[in-house]
Amino acid sequence: RFKAVIFDLDGVITDTAHYHYLAWKRLAESVGVHFDEAFNEHLKGVDRMGSLDLILGEAARNYSAQQKLEMADAKNRHYQDLISTMSEADLLPGAVDALAAVRAAGLRIGLASVSKNAFTVLEHLGIRGRFDYVVDAATITHSKPHPEIFLTAADKLGVDPGECLGVEDAVAGVASIKRAGMYALGVGSPEVLTQADRVIPGLDQFRLEDY
Ligand code: G6P
Ligand code: MG
Repeated sequence: RFKAVIFDLDGVITDTAHYHYLAWKRLAESVGVHFDEAFNEHLKGVDRMGSLDLILGEAARNYSAQQKLEMADAKNRHYQDLISTMSEADLLPGAVDALAAVRAAGLRIGLASVSKNAFTVLEHLGIRGRFDYVVDAATITHSKPHPEIFLTAADKLGVDPGECLGVEDAVAGVASIKRAGMYALGVGSPEVLTQADRVIPGLDQFRLEDY
């Protein structure tokens, strides 16, 4: 019943979610903001400047736009350091098999990540060629949970949103999929991803025929 599957990247295909966490934690603590895994959950799927605003909270107004850009840049440099040694070994279990299964079923494959580093990560993982369309985050105006990125992917793949299965590890990402009118497959815990139509612990449990 689906014509396309649109995947998120960070935390679904590879564990860059952990690198984002480490980089934000160092930045947050450098400005005296406490940062833990629970708070990080709210940042998943949120773009860079949006994440910084969430971290700074009320204190955001104490910083100029220029200072905030410098903080975001510092976080990104640290993140790029962390991903620089990534390779195919960093693919999460089941990721390549899931992509191959979708391809074998004759469906189109999209990638919807708001990360401006997504192309670099795909290159490191050696899977760029497995996607029919990769959304360029630089062209997206609204971060998840806005549906723009998933709707853009569907449009470029030439399929209706209702014919798409979206795969996400983030609360904001699942919300984005649902607002786009798609079936949402969550990757993670059902207690966290309450809006998802179905939740699996990881792509090693991905079974296209079940959804
Ligand atoms: C993804 C991740 C977020 C990250 C965002 C922007 O959505 O889940 O944690 O903040 O991309 O990433 P970027 O690489 O552009 O800073
Ligand atoms: Mg994610």
